[in-house]
Amino acid sequence: MTEPRAQWKSKMGFILAASGSAIGLGNIVMFSSNAYKYGGGAFYLPYFIALFLVGIPVMIAEFGLGAFTKKSFPMAMRQAGGRVGEFAGWFAILNAGLITMFYVTILGWVVGMLIRAIAMEDVSQGFAPGNTVWSDLIRGWLPVSAVAIVWGLNILLVSKGTKTIEMAVKVFVPLMWVAMLVLVVVGFFLPGGFDGMQNLFAPEPEVLFNPDVWRGATSQMFFTLSLGFGVMTAYASYLPDHSDHSHNAITTSLLNCGFEWIAGVAVFAMLFAYSQLPASGTLGMMFTVVPSGIAALPFAVKIFGVAFFALLLIAGLTSSISLVEALVASLQDKFQMPRGRTLAICAVVGFLGSTLFALPILIQVPAEGGPPGEAPIGLMLLDFMDHWAFGYGLILVGLVECLVIGWGIGAQNLRKFINQRSRFQLGAWFDVLLKFILPILLTLLLTFSIMDQDILKETVYGTGITTADGAGLWNSLVEWSPKLILGLWVIGCGLGAWLLSGATGADLDDRAVEEEVAEIQEEGGLL
Ligand code: PHE
Repeated sequence: MTEPRAQWKSKMGFILAASGSAIGLGNIVMFSSNAYKYGGGAFYLPYFIALFLVGIPVMIAEFGLGAFTKKSFPMAMRQAGGRVGEFAGWFAILNAGLITMFYVTILGWVVGMLIRAIAMEDVSQGFAPGNTVWSDLIRGWLPVSAVAIVWGLNILLVSKGTKTIEMAVKVFVPLMWVAMLVLVVVGFFLPGGFDGMQNLFAPEPEVLFNPDVWRGATSQMFFTLSLGFGVMTAYASYLPDHSDHSHNAITTSLLNCGFEWIAGVAVFAMLFAYSQLPASGTLGMMFTVVPSGIAALPFAVKIFGVAFFALLLIAGLTSSISLVEALVASLQDKFQMPRGRTLAICAVVGFLGSTLFALPILIQVPAEGGPPGEAPIGLMLLDFMDHWAFGYGLILVGLVECLVIGWGIGAQNLRKFINQRSRFQLGAWFDVLLKFILPILLTLLLTFSIMDQDILKETVYGTGITTADGAGLWNSLVEWSPKLILGLWVIGCGLGAWLLSGATGADLDDRAVEEEVAEIQEEGGLL
């Protein structure tokens, strides 16, 4: 038999690890960029509704699933929903693997910027509005070595599973709270910063009728809470038997969203202090808008420049290690391979993928209403993959997991299991939510996205790029790249999940869940 399953040393260790996973690049920059895109104060109503309606319940379900089965995501989903469940579980893990690849690439850019900020003599010049530090960086090969460094750090921090992860989060998570609080204080000192902050809270109710805002808020919720990746289930599978899952889920979600709001306040302050009004995507926010804000500080520019990128790096690392752990644990639970070898395989494949997204080779991209611009191919591929893996993958996984947990194990049985260990008792609303409301809601959102963004446009997202010279094999390859990425996503995740779920692996007593459910029901019927 294999060794007993690893366990977190303390409840604190688990909460730090789970909130460290949740708090990441999504909190510091993606939230502000979304809030900005959808109209500042307009975003927070959909956001809060998504938090209470989708975020917290799904996190309770993911924690509950991991604790109930003591397995990482695919095998846990297998126990809950048979082969179909396992297929969905692997789909989630492979989708998460693709997201890990570009998440690490972005962290590689963060390392590059950190090095520049440390080396730069006058950061206030280098980071000033209109600077090209980042666009120069991604046009060179330095990020590829930076990606290797980030993978190296991940290997180190995940090498002994919960043991090394717990050590890392005990240092990193408190540190990132301190760094974020410092940045907010800085925001207050910026001329106009305070007005910027208020913008985050100025309501714009008409936006609520735009379904796109609701989709944005729901995707943001899945990503920021690390849901739909199988991560929270893997982490919860290392909990001791009598942990309070509802309480853990509520604490983790509120810590995450609290951090996100504080970060939003800081970023909005910088945004408005410098009237950087052109809407900026996540990457623009991270690599140009916020650095410009820092550059204009009246004091200690260098320290804050370095602190901002160091914050992004540690927040991102506590997230990426959870992704890597979820991957490694899934393969280990299925194939019972030794940890070192499994980690090595994941890291090599991951490094190759991250390198692809860091490629600096330049191509021509169409620009609306102007001459085409140039961008590195890695950045474009990242954008295409983000569209599918993030835009659709997470909500798709969320939908299927609600169905598998809701109807497979039975939401009422999981609720009973959770309630037996919990101070806060979940009511029957939890069952209705998992079985009916969330599946319907998520199906509507998915249908809306597909119709609105892809099918009606009758073109694959991202088509229309060419190379500078415009002919030959290389050019056709580039033109085909949006379709290749779509294919990689569908075939990589779909076919991969089909093969992995069909492969013979660890003996799984498929009756285990039925027996456990029966036991739960015997103990005094349903609540
Ligand atoms: N929650 C992380 C963020 O906000 C992203 C992430 C998702 C990390 C899933 C790990 C697992 O950046």
